[in-house]
Amino acid sequence: MAIEEKIKKLVEMRSEARMGGGQKRIDSQHSKGKLTARERINLLLDDGSFEEFDMFVTHRSTDFGLDKEHYLGDGVVIGNGTIDGRLVYVYSQDFTVLGGSLSETNAKKICKVMDMAMKVGAPVIGLNDSGGARIQEGVLSLSGYAEIFQRNIEASGVIPQISAILGPCAGGAVYSPALTDFILMAENTSYMFVTGPKVVKTVTGEDISVEDLGGPMIHASKSGVAHFVSKDEEDAINTLKRIISYIPQNYMETTPLLECNDPVDRIEDVLNTIIPDNPNKPYNVLDIIHTIVDNGEFEEVHKYYAKNIVVGFARFNGQSVGIVANQPNFLAGVLDIDASKKGARFVRFCDCFNIPIVTLVDVPGFLPGSAQEYGGIISNGAKLMYAYGEATVPKVTITLRKSYGGAHDVMSCKQLKGDLNYAWPSAEIAVMGAQGAIEILNAREASAIEDPEKRAQFVAEKEAEYREKFANPYQAAKYGFIDDVIEPRNTRFRIIRALASLDNKNEHRPNKKHNNIPL
Ligand code: HXC
Repeated sequence: MAIEEKIKKLVEMRSEARMGGGQKRIDSQHSKGKLTARERINLLLDDGSFEEFDMFVTHRSTDFGLDKEHYLGDGVVIGNGTIDGRLVYVYSQDFTVLGGSLSETNAKKICKVMDMAMKVGAPVIGLNDSGGARIQEGVLSLSGYAEIFQRNIEASGVIPQISAILGPCAGGAVYSPALTDFILMAENTSYMFVTGPKVVKTVTGEDISVEDLGGPMIHASKSGVAHFVSKDEEDAINTLKRIISYIPQNYMETTPLLECNDPVDRIEDVLNTIIPDNPNKPYNVLDIIHTIVDNGEFEEVHKYYAKNIVVGFARFNGQSVGIVANQPNFLAGVLDIDASKKGARFVRFCDCFNIPIVTLVDVPGFLPGSAQEYGGIISNGAKLMYAYGEATVPKVTITLRKSYGGAHDVMSCKQLKGDLNYAWPSAEIAVMGAQGAIEILNAREASAIEDPEKRAQFVAEKEAEYREKFANPYQAAKYGFIDDVIEPRNTRFRIIRALASLDNKNEHRPNKKHNNIPL
């Protein structure tokens, strides 16, 4: 064959591979409101940057008629490319080829990009859209999954791994995304569950729809499995790009600095009056976050889950940081099981990848009650404490208002090796709130007063005395647990200066095989 012929054959084979399962199936994919594997990659990566591998891989199966059904690429598109000039590795499951199902060779392709990403220290992005294990291949498919799982585990904390769910994701297949750092789901087209509605009906008798069992909002708000929900695929891919902008390539690097046009010494008078005079009145901590970060840009993670704590990425003077903030607007910002898990997971991600943590504290304590105790608030609350205590990235904490009891200790206090701990003058750092304290300290004296009016007056006086003495930042500042009490309007500048001073922070924990966080 002459070289022209050979090149023509190559071009034809490339065209064939790019057609996946054929035009009819591509049309069917579009009719479901879904993009194809390649269209997704094109949206995700910088123009012309995609370098594809294994385009000519085919499966080796001969059972159930598969010997007559081969597709170049075998149902997954893999390769590397850049996002804003930074290298990432991608695999994108092609639902038009045998439902994007995972075969032995398909799994090998996914493992290949993961291995390459590990070798050069770059993030892996998985675009998932698959009917799960390729049924015709049986155990080879299961072992393929396990090969991927093992790589997910080994890559954890070494390179960032992000999973977008853009179609079905069921059975054991859900566990690869679950092992990665972040999961995104797209509304209307994606779902995740270990067992689908039919099996649920057979085993438990429960009637439930796909959406209610494993749709995006369920996982974003109830199970906490999904960190981001997007209104459609394009939105999901834009979210992926923004996440990548906040994170480094691997655990040995830091996130690239962006040029900052927002003045570092921007004074915000509004912050001086943002905390209500009444300590029981809520406010929205997001207003504070948006006011202090660069250009008001905040990428909230787990927005719909455990809303009593807010976590997400932002920048100060162009430097990427993780923000953790109690949210007084929801359950008064109390720490409960879900909030502790959410906070801990985020703090650990930031620590893995050298992203400094800024913590904004306004927490009345842990949520009391049997439901929380039976659910294990003790070991779950300990997760957040553990995460802060093991984190060696720069930790800057600002106490805005309440910081009571065990929750005070948890929220990046000085003794959990908080680096710089500031408080606003509105801070109340104490064992508990005035009402609770007086109920315990002066119960006997109060009950001895028969006249209800006089009793109420006595209690009010005692509470005022307690508040005067303890509901302020100065007791903690007196002992050096708070490094400075700052004017709220200067918060942006003080955080930026604190982060700059911690730039070369170098702190170690004792060597060990690995820690044993209370899971
Ligand atoms: C082989 C599959 C397949 C699979 C779908 N297809 N899933 N082929 N193995 N797992 C094929 C279909 O035969 C069809 O081929 C094409 O993909 C599109 O599928 P449709 O059913 O037409 O699409 P749709 O109506 O959108 O339904 C999608 C679906 C459904 C809900 C995902 O296909 C389905 O229920 N698939 C089986 C899911 C499943 O049980 N997987 C195994 C789970 S167990 P044609 O030729 O018609 O285009 C598992 C274990 C993993 O995954 C364990 C890891 C530890």
